[in-house]
Amino acid sequence: MYVRPRRNRKSEAVRGYHRETWLAPQHLVLPLFIHGGDGREGIDSMPGCERLSVAELLVEVDAARAEGIHSVVLFPKIEERLKSSHGEESHNPDGLVPRAIAALKERFSDLTVITDVALDPYSSDGHDGIVQGGRVLNDETVEVLQLQALCQARAGADIIAPSDMMDGRVGAIREALDAEGFSEVSILSYTAKYASAYYGPFRDALDSAPKFGDKKTYQMDPANVREAIREIELDEQEGADILMVKPAMPYLDVIAMMRANTALPIAAYQVSGEYAMLKAAAQNGWLDERKVVLEALMAIRRAGADVIFTYFARAAARWLAA
Ligand code: PBG
Repeated sequence: MYVRPRRNRKSEAVRGYHRETWLAPQHLVLPLFIHGGDGREGIDSMPGCERLSVAELLVEVDAARAEGIHSVVLFPKIEERLKSSHGEESHNPDGLVPRAIAALKERFSDLTVITDVALDPYSSDGHDGIVQGGRVLNDETVEVLQLQALCQARAGADIIAPSDMMDGRVGAIREALDAEGFSEVSILSYTAKYASAYYGPFRDALDSAPKFGDKKTYQMDPANVREAIREIELDEQEGADILMVKPAMPYLDVIAMMRANTALPIAAYQVSGEYAMLKAAAQNGWLDERKVVLEALMAIRRAGADVIFTYFARAAARWLAA
């Protein structure tokens, strides 16, 4: 046997010569849930994650920054009485998200604040858009998303992340932002967002599950990958800065395909169900949490993701530093 691949694996030094992928806190974004009440509230299906008041958000972000995490994305739990079919609360300048953004930017001016654009937390129907006669309206929704994005930009958001999957929303949001002088605010588009059961715990966290039906008329079919190529082309034309795939680990092939088909940075979202699975197995002693989480994140990077949204961001940053 002249050829023995194991010689190149014989020590950490030799393995280090040709390691192809690396993972560091700079690649991680921490999603945070916020609520209008006081203090912290646990989330049953996401042990270790909590809904935070604005005051607690500042405490959490302070700790995350000390660990090397410098980007966060905000998701609000909105009280039922503030929900409506047109989601007006999504662009209330005194709403929870604008207040949270302003508090974060005042305290941590160099923090990168990413905000979600979609109506589901604000919708009395639990959908990402306006519902009429059982259908989710596209163009009418896009007009509200423009208002939502503007409201977030005025409050100080650095990156606007539309997760709604309406057609044309990236271009429309770009236009609205530029018209008000927010040409430096980025758009991170959820380009290939699948109609996935892995979002279950997130919908528990925000109490945002659809009141009827599902999201299959706007989110992508898990059976498809070619369709993502069309979404890439549109998002590029419409001015997106970063393209996202979501969920992450069950869709590594989609991440790799996107990597091969765009020069833009790629983001991947390790979603709530991926978190819950790993956490549950770890809590039962069935998997080694630290090893399996770092392996999952490395795999998502290897597939082609530049940046990863993960509820494990703080833990991973601590483990990477150790
Ligand atoms: C909604 C939105 C969802 C997530 C992020 N933004 C849920 C959905 O589309 O129903 C899911 C994130 C997660 O599961 O961690 N616009």
